[in-house]
Amino acid sequence: MTDMELVDIAVKAMERSYAPYSHFNVGAALLGKSGKVYSGCNVENASYGACNCAERTAVFKAVSEGEREFKAIAIVGGKDGRINDFCAPCGICRQVLSEFAVRDLAVILYNGTKAERYTLGSLLPMSFSSDDMK
Ligand code: THU
Repeated sequence: MTDMELVDIAVKAMERSYAPYSHFNVGAALLGKSGKVYSGCNVENASYGACNCAERTAVFKAVSEGEREFKAIAIVGGKDGRINDFCAPCGICRQVLSEFAVRDLAVILYNGTKAERYTLGSLLPMSFSSDDMK
């Protein structure tokens, strides 16, 4: 699976985004260790606090299907589905990813022209984890 193949799946997921309030559509594609890809989109709600981000939709789909180890996640997003900038994962999604992902999980962002690669560890340094509760 190439980075651009994963990005393409994220773009297709973004097309299913339900964002009637923000009009900001986001898609994610999470590559599991098994090779299976779990896509996700943001799903908004009239009660704004009940909105769910694309990345968390993908993580929850994967975990609920039995996959807990991941290789990479691609994320795309933009106002009215127009991808013209990188869409970085929000803090809550970084934290949710960190529950299951290793620090070197590849986070692939795409701005409509080029893809960039980060690691989860670089995006969420010194994060809180179960180790901190020992
Ligand atoms: N959103 C995501 O889906 N992922 C992120 O990492 C950032 C924000 C969604 C939430 C909301 O539906 C919309 O984008 C505007 O914040």
